[in-house]
Amino acid sequence: MIKSILFVCLGNICRSPVVEAIARLEFSRARIDVYVDSAGTADYHTGEQADSRSLASAQRAGYDGSPHRARQISAEDFEQFDAVLAMDNRNLATILSRCPERFRGKIDLFLRHAGIASPLEVPDPYYGDDGDFRRVIELGRIGVEKLIERHRITA
Ligand code: 4NP
Repeated sequence: MIKSILFVCLGNICRSPVVEAIARLEFSRARIDVYVDSAGTADYHTGEQADSRSLASAQRAGYDGSPHRARQISAEDFEQFDAVLAMDNRNLATILSRCPERFRGKIDLFLRHAGIASPLEVPDPYYGDDGDFRRVIELGRIGVEKLIERHRITA
């Protein structure tokens, strides 16, 4: 059974912190005891808060991303987390290239792991507009809802 999930994007300031905040609240509402965290494959934003546009769109949807500070994924994460879920194929490929063979089975795309066939990726909103940030919330909620269903089936 999965007891911990690490959500991963590129900068750890737009997508994965929002999905982490959604998962933390919705897992707690569903009384599902899974530890969640997030990280980026890049280190450009280490120590920073989530992007203000992400924080605002999350807040509007009822999720608090303010405690988050960005960090880069580390070698220990592959050992410590039961599932390492990437927001898109680019970050999936980066993670797979850094992950020791024995932990590769923990790695997947977030939406695919949730059981969603399409779309498979949460698109990067960094150079986008409000609609792209809303889309992150929408896909995050759909994916987390499916993760909860999946967890209940395998529990
Ligand atoms: P994220 O978005 O991977 O969802 O956190 C991005 C954040 C920063 C950059 C790109 C994407 N960047 O190029 O700095």
